[in-house]
Amino acid sequence: MKFFLDTASLKDISWAAQAGLIDGITTNPSLLAKQAGDLDPRDVLKEICSLVEGPVSAEVVSIDTAGMVNEGTELAKIADNIVVKIPMLEEGMVAVRQLGAAGIKTNVTLCFSSVQCLLAAKAGAAFVSPFIGRIDDVGQEGMDVIREARVIFDNYGIETEILAASIRHPRHVVEAAMIGADVATLPPDVLKKLLLHPLTDRGLDQFLSDWSKLAARAKATV
Ligand code: E4P
Repeated sequence: MKFFLDTASLKDISWAAQAGLIDGITTNPSLLAKQAGDLDPRDVLKEICSLVEGPVSAEVVSIDTAGMVNEGTELAKIADNIVVKIPMLEEGMVAVRQLGAAGIKTNVTLCFSSVQCLLAAKAGAAFVSPFIGRIDDVGQEGMDVIREARVIFDNYGIETEILAASIRHPRHVVEAAMIGADVATLPPDVLKKLLLHPLTDRGLDQFLSDWSKLAARAKATV
């Protein structure tokens, strides 16, 4: 399973990239607004693209086809690994098709049902992003969308990648991996939580304590 980091934080991206833990990045206007401050968001995206080799999703903010295509075309000029994020809209599907014809990869975002995923795939998206956590938030089972989309895509040999998004905790990652989502995009705090287990901490404390007792004994016998 591929892991993307769902952030525009250069610090978190640098750490995860150096550790070889991530295969790409997803951003959205909210995440970029948080990171960019006074900086030009395009410069932030350029820096992100230099830190990771894999796909970096950058979202358009237009909601008409021509605007999305123009913005997407400009975003794609930032770096070769930019993937243009297009919202699940009627106009967006045409933009996905047109950007694809121009050789620009797209990620259809704000998907909340398996049929939305199917439509995005038919339009030619490279990735579809069902938002698991936000579906859970309204009292439905977000993981069902991943499960259904996986079956549908496998039934028809659809190559569009299912990107499990809006991941809120490690259990989401485990379930998405068991179902066979191609990618999970993780907020940095969730990625860091995956490293943790209380028995790891307890085991390390024990090893270090035993070692310091041994060292103290060795010192006393010198
Ligand atoms: C995905 O590409 C989105 O940026 C993200 O996963 C949204 O997550 P949220 O629901 O936690 O904002």
